[in-house]
Amino acid sequence: MLPEGVLINGLTGEVSPGTGKYTKRLSELREIFQDQTELDRLVEVEGDPVVYEVIEYRKEGSDLFFGTTTMEPGKVSGEFFMTRGHFHQRRDMGEVYYTQSGHGVLLLESRKGETKVVRMDPGVCAFIPPDWAHRSINVGSEKLVFVWVCNVDAGHDYGDILKHGMRKIVVDRDGKDTIMNNPHYSL
Ligand code: F6R
Ligand code: ZN
Repeated sequence: MLPEGVLINGLTGEVSPGTGKYTKRLSELREIFQDQTELDRLVEVEGDPVVYEVIEYRKEGSDLFFGTTTMEPGKVSGEFFMTRGHFHQRRDMGEVYYTQSGHGVLLLESRKGETKVVRMDPGVCAFIPPDWAHRSINVGSEKLVFVWVCNVDAGHDYGDILKHGMRKIVVDRDGKDTIMNNPHYSL
């Protein structure tokens, strides 16, 4: 294994060299939004827009990997575009999110049900402690681009968030991003 410099474009999220990528479109995120009727309509009339793209840089045998997440601006009935959100499978492994451009909200939830919010503005490096679920939300009108760094063994556990939702949602109220209780949250 040899050291290497990886060029990251903080405006587009491009990673050179990158070793893998995936895209999430609105139709694949149906369950996480409040208004699924409106989501279906948007998928129909807007041709299933991209919500976010993840590009990673990973080296065989390394303990760490990193990459970018690039989130498009957008809303479904006032609820901002967001990632699925997850705990890590390894409960002893956290993560770092370093915002490059755009404006977002990082919504975090501990196993005990505490909620924390970290604003994602350019230059803010967010510390995500082990065993806190995390979801990023683009609350701006441009792309939100952030770099994440994580242990390769951390893994993703999407089940809890998919089943119960998160306790808070982030919506546009009179042009301001507002954190509200999730009316559909269930234990
Ligand atoms: C990895 C991590 C990020 C997210 C990415 C997409 O542990 O936190 O790379 O995976 O921002 O979000 P999810 O995976 O929640 O759809
Ligand atoms: Zn993570």
